[in-house]
Amino acid sequence: MRTLLVTGGAGFIGSNFIRYMLKHEPDIRIVNLDKLTYAGSLENLKDLPDPERHTFVQGDICDGDLVARLLHEHRVDTIVHFAAESHVDRSILGPGAFVQTNIVGTFTLLEAARAFWLNENPLDGAPVRFHHVSTDEVFGTLGPEDPPFDENTPYAPRSPYAASKASSDHLVRAYFHTYGLPVTITNCSNNYGPYQFPEKLIPLMILNAQEGKPLPVYGDGMQIRDWLYVDDHSEAIRRVLHGGRPGETYTVGGDNQPPNIQIVRTICHILDELQPASPHTPHEKLITHVADRPGHDRRYDIDIAKIRSELGWEPSEKLETGLLKTVRWYLDNPEWVAAIRKQQEYQRWIDANYAKRR
Ligand code: NAD
Ligand code: DAU
Repeated sequence: MRTLLVTGGAGFIGSNFIRYMLKHEPDIRIVNLDKLTYAGSLENLKDLPDPERHTFVQGDICDGDLVARLLHEHRVDTIVHFAAESHVDRSILGPGAFVQTNIVGTFTLLEAARAFWLNENPLDGAPVRFHHVSTDEVFGTLGPEDPPFDENTPYAPRSPYAASKASSDHLVRAYFHTYGLPVTITNCSNNYGPYQFPEKLIPLMILNAQEGKPLPVYGDGMQIRDWLYVDDHSEAIRRVLHGGRPGETYTVGGDNQPPNIQIVRTICHILDELQPASPHTPHEKLITHVADRPGHDRRYDIDIAKIRSELGWEPSEKLETGLLKTVRWYLDNPEWVAAIRKQQEYQRWIDANYAKRR
């Protein structure tokens, strides 16, 4: 039985990954280290399959003693590192936490893994792996005719969030080259699906539309992201854990590149169909263009040729069906939505980010 330390496992992608892995990998145990910032919630971990194989620990990845203790106590052989400050707009209004968690936190984990696996080496030569979950935002922005990002695209981050993730990627690679720590990295595009915190585009639009609130589209709404259903991301990481080569990077994307405005309109149409009696139908009338995000990356696109050819991975969810499932999930889980919304922090953030944009 392998033992994974998953960091940030009470957040959006981490909790979906834990659910996915417990379902598909009967021979693993998971220790989940999460600080429970505004973005993490135990609500995301209810109804896990086989919950006795999951141990939750509330704590900070910047706490080196805690990380070292967990590696020893649980004899961890695999680290899957999701924990991060993840929202670009928050990084614009307050970059400090991004430097701390995304850079110092990743460094702390790398040091603990190096000490435990390479210096002390108590696992009798069993294979070990440090997998770092990163983002396509490290590559910057594409013009209309540019080729997609791939594993060889130079780094050109443009937000404090992207710069902090780029920095952490460099540290992870340095630990491979300098110390021989067996690392892998995935740089993935925009995820969507259940349990995403409603500060991000898709859940924010679903919940605002349902309540008849304005749908704040930044600028002209023609920015392009490459959308990936979260379970497809989990499967990509699972393949990299099984077959990825140490020291290698894999770019992961959904092969879906509609402009933001089209995503918002599709959500409106889905809600019109699912809730024809709503007083807010047609929901499109709620769309409001607001001031743009500073330094807003215009377009992302991902080349998945490497992970497809080496590991046989490709996205399985189509955007239309994935969005329908996602809207349904938010409508079917009012208790989850209420628990998130009642945090004072959530309303504080909505006021801070949107008041000045109107
Ligand atoms: P999220 O904000 O939903 O969750 C982050 C989690 O990390 C939360 O549970 C939070 O409590 C925890 N956390 C934050 N600081 C911590 C600390 N110091 N110590 C321990 N735990 C801490 O983020 P997400 O969207 O699930 O993203 C997860 C990872 O995937 C991030 O590294 C992000 O950069 C990367 N990523 C996200 C996307 C996306 O579209 N969401 C795409 C590509 C890559
Ligand atoms: O590309 C991967 C990245 O995707 C991840 O690394 C980040 O953690 C994740 O948050 C996401 O970043 P984005 O900035 O692309 O996601 P967000 O949902 O914040 O915004 C998606 C697009 O929608 C972006 O072009 C900005 C726009 N937007 C967003 C919000 C919140 C709006 O137009 N209005 C909004 O209110």
